[in-house]
Amino acid sequence: MVLNGPNLNLLGSREPAIYGRDTLDDIAVRLEEQAATLGLELDIRQSNHEGHLVDWLHEAGARGALAVLLNAGALTHTSIAILDAIKGINVPVIEVHLSNPHTREEFRHTSFVARAAKGTIAGFGAASYRLALDAAAALRQ
Ligand code: DQA
Repeated sequence: MVLNGPNLNLLGSREPAIYGRDTLDDIAVRLEEQAATLGLELDIRQSNHEGHLVDWLHEAGARGALAVLLNAGALTHTSIAILDAIKGINVPVIEVHLSNPHTREEFRHTSFVARAAKGTIAGFGAASYRLALDAAAALRQ
């Protein structure tokens, strides 16, 4: 599963100097192509609502997903509910960011997602998603 949080629906026009010009659909198309070559099935979603992300993490757990790629957007820095959801499922979560939050404002330096994530890929623009999908594929035995 590839879960995207608040404001990521605006990719392409949102602060392009930070997040680039690719839309979430552009990223999704490339991820689907990559998934096909890796033999993986993707379910890519975006919501601006914290509870949807919590529900979808539970769904990933119930479905026994191989992994979740999670870009929780600003909820990364605030959401204990998302942290608890990650802890509550038995699915590795790979934290993804287009930007590198550690080089940005102080309030982005805390990640509740990172506390329970298998690992984090950040700072490579849209390529962060590609690298994260490769990381997910590497989790297969
Ligand atoms: C982001 C980084 C977050 O700090 C920010 O709130 C976002 C996007 C990223 O992908 O770089 O919405 O998660």
